[in-house]
Amino acid sequence: MRLVAKNNSISASVIKRLPRYYSYLEELMTENVERISSKGLAERMKTTASQIRQDLNCFGGFGQQGYGYNIKALHDEIGNILGINKEYKAILIGAGNLGTAIASQISFEKKGCKLNAIFDIDTNIIGKSIAGIEVSDINQVEQYCKENSPSIAVLCIPKSNAFEVAKKLIELGVKSFWNFSHFDLNLHFDNIVVENVHLGDSLLTLTYKTKNQ
Ligand code: NAI
Repeated sequence: MRLVAKNNSISASVIKRLPRYYSYLEELMTENVERISSKGLAERMKTTASQIRQDLNCFGGFGQQGYGYNIKALHDEIGNILGINKEYKAILIGAGNLGTAIASQISFEKKGCKLNAIFDIDTNIIGKSIAGIEVSDINQVEQYCKENSPSIAVLCIPKSNAFEVAKKLIELGVKSFWNFSHFDLNLHFDNIVVENVHLGDSLLTLTYKTKNQ
């Protein structure tokens, strides 16, 4: 089974839901379930069968009427769509509280990335080991990028320093940013892809939902 996007304009909301499908399918695989209907998957994910059919239809449609989806095949194909088997080279900048938590708690490999290097500016932190990676001096990032061509940078530095760091990394060929810095990279740089993370916004969404419960 090969899923191919019907066009390049898959909506951002569909793309955002793919990781959820992926992890639910992974869970089903660990339970040794082989097939599931869109109704069954919808019940598990607390969504609707038509939403699932509509989403997966963006990639050409598959699954057999009355027969359901083959879980492993669907899981693998969604993984392909997400680029999980690519092993993108990643670096992390800012090995403070957040950077340490991200480096040690996120399974980069399971998500198509390999965290290869961590950089910081603080001499008290440089040389420490986080998740088996020795923190390097940010001054070495230029040489590192020239030698290793990382595709992704995880920014765990303060907003005030993000422009300078991102500018340098972009000049060195980094094109993708997992951006925790609260600095809006898209306002300043073209031709990069950015995934901004604002945990506080997620909490605000929760307070909104709580208020309107
Ligand atoms: P922290 O102060 O513990 O760590 C920041 C680290 O960045 C420090 O180790 C510092 O030496 C390093 N750093 C600063 N400038 C640098 C540069 N030019 N090059 C390399 N390293 C540099 O702070 P924490 O708690 O880890 O937070 C980091 C940033 O992330 C903060 O600005 C905070 O506002 C933000 N944050 C964002 C969240 C989100 O959901 N997006 C959640 C939590 C924090």
